[in-house]
Parts: sequence; structure tokens; C-alpha cells
Amino acid sequence: MQIKIEKTKNPKQKPDQSNLGFGKYFTDHMFIVDYAEGKGWHDARIIPYQPLSLDPATSVFHYGQAIFEGMKAYLSAEGKILLFRPRKNMERINSSDDRMSMPLIDVDFGVEAIKTLVKLDRDWIPTADGTSLYIRPFIISTDPALGVRASNTYKFIIILSPVGAYYPQGIAPVKIYVEPEYVRAVRGGTGYAKAAGNYAGSMKAQSIAAKKGYVQVLWLDGVERKYIEEVGAMNVFFKVKGEVVTPALEGSILPGITRESVIFLLKHWGMKVSERKISIHELQEAHNKGELEEAFGTGTAAVISPIGELSWNGSRMVLNYGNTGDVAHKLYDMLTGIQFGRLKDEFGWTVKVE
Ligand code: PLP
Ligand code: COI
Repeated sequence: MQIKIEKTKNPKQKPDQSNLGFGKYFTDHMFIVDYAEGKGWHDARIIPYQPLSLDPATSVFHYGQAIFEGMKAYLSAEGKILLFRPRKNMERINSSDDRMSMPLIDVDFGVEAIKTLVKLDRDWIPTADGTSLYIRPFIISTDPALGVRASNTYKFIIILSPVGAYYPQGIAPVKIYVEPEYVRAVRGGTGYAKAAGNYAGSMKAQSIAAKKGYVQVLWLDGVERKYIEEVGAMNVFFKVKGEVVTPALEGSILPGITRESVIFLLKHWGMKVSERKISIHELQEAHNKGELEEAFGTGTAAVISPIGELSWNGSRMVLNYGNTGDVAHKLYDMLTGIQFGRLKDEFGWTVKVE
């Protein structure tokens, strides 16, 4: 499919790179392709960044058929634009689409659309340390109809945002609140999909945690409220007595691309890693015995984010004296080294945009 390009006549002023925050600024262009039952995906175009005009009855507003992705473009010291495992994001879009009864999209076409848009807005890729261009592909249902059924029409849109660190404290260890009451997902639900509704349902616990001074929530399983699932925007890893443990993928957590890459790297380094059930009680016991050596989260936005403190049931578990652990440090250096082209990419993870 050809992508038509209409360039903006009014380029925007670029933001100050020292104060980007996360997802507050958007580039000059956006990508859109439409879908209609019987016609498939059609009319792929890049247009100046602008608001969408949608009928108030549009199905996404009422029944929430909406999924999204998150990835980044990195500028190397030699000025090359690099993407990190972009096919994985497009494959996950299809897994989310399938769960939400939305139409699948060709993986190669999706990657091509991302590359074309990033190339056009390449001057927006920030260069300050720790910054990158966040890529947000998403799909929404667009039938203007109130019947509860899968829509017959959709839009796949890509927008770009120059970003700094996801958490306001940068890469310093974060404080996380273990949520005792609300749950994010259950097996058989939509937890493994990057469905907008999963995030809508998480905001209440998130604001309770924020009021208590915690940046994100650590979810427990939806049935027994006992086993660790994941954090609001990242998967979690714990190092207990030399072994790195992360919750197994059982349908209720997001299969993170950073998670997969981290497991691969740890195994490559010869470390003991297991994907299994891990209960909050096991963690607390390990902490009491001094065996919980470090904890960190992984995600595109969060990169490798050390966890300095977990609050559970009124008690505070301070990890590694609130400092970044060695494993988190080594993973951060390796992963960002590959992503920014500072280190040799032995695993074929990076894709050049031009
Ligand atoms: N878990 C949730 C709920 C997320 O939103 C994200 C972010 O995408 C992740 C985990 C990490 O996934 P990835 O490493 O693919 O960015
Ligand atoms: C990401 O890491 O890309 C995410 O989507 C996390 C969050 C911004 C929802």
C-alpha cells in the first residue's frame, strides 16, 4: 500500500530538550490508515498533526475498542535512527487486535509506516542524554452506532512524541505501592492485550498510591490477590538469593518486549532466571531474611527502572538500601547501549530507519 504524504506548512516550535517529561509534545505529522469491512485497510496517509473529527456515537467512546503500542526511535552518535525490535510491537498489536475483535494489520506494512513517519519527523528526535522519540501507534473503532458489537470500521494512527524519563525522578529508584484491593486483570480477560480499558481500570489504584507518595502500583493476581503480576507500565523482576525471578506469562500480564529482551540477556550472561509464580508473602519473607537483593521494572517508557521501596500491608520493604542494584545497572547499560547504537548489536535487535 502506498503512503501519501502531505507535509505541514506550519512546522511547530520544538520543545526545550532539558524538560521534555513524557508524552507532552507531539511532532509535525501523524500517520493514518482506515479500515472498512469488505475493503480492508486503505487510504494510508501522513498528514500534518491535527485533531480528529468523530461522531459522538463513535463506538470507541462507548464500548472502548481501542488498543495501543509503545516503542521508541533512538538517534545514535553517528546520526543513525534506530528502532528496537519493531516487528515485536506490530505482532503484539495483532495479538491485542485479536483479543479485542479488531482487524489484524500486516506487520511489515506497520513497520514501514512507522519508519516513513519517523524519517519525515527525524528533526524531532531529541539528542539530550536519556531522551528519545516515543512512538505511539494505536487503533480505534469508528462505527457511529450504539449497538454492542464489534465495529466494522477502524483507524490505525501513529503519533510521535519527543520524551525524557518516564518517571519524574529520572532513573533513580522508584517507590511502588502493592495494591491490596483493586485488581488489573484475570486469566481469560484482556490483561495480555495492550487494550486502553486495562489502563482506564487502573487509574483509581494509581491515584490512591500517588496520594500515599508512591509512583506506581504493583498488581497482585485477580483471584487470590497473592501472586505478583506487574506494575502499571512495566514488568517486574526480583533478585532473590542470586536468582532472578519474574512472573510467568499466564494471560493476565503484558508480554513486555523489554521483559523478553532482559530474560534473554540474563540467560546470555549465564545468570539463573526463572519465570514462575511468585507471591508477595515469598517476597516479604525473602526481604525479612535479607535475601531480596534487588527489584526492577522493565518497559519501553520506563527502560530499566530500579525499585527502591515496596509498600505492602502497612510495611515498607526498602530494597538494596534504596539504591540501584548491580543487575539493574548492568541491564540498563547493555540495553540502552544497544538501543542507542553505542554497543554492538549481537542479537539483531535494532533496525535502521534509513
Ligand atoms: N506492562 C504494562 C502494563 C505496560 O503498559 C508496559 C509498557 O508497554 C509493559 C509492561 C512493558 O512492555 P514493553 O517492554 O513491551 O514496553
Ligand atoms: C510503554 O512503555 O510504551 C507504555 O506503553 C507504558 C505506558 C506509557 C502506558
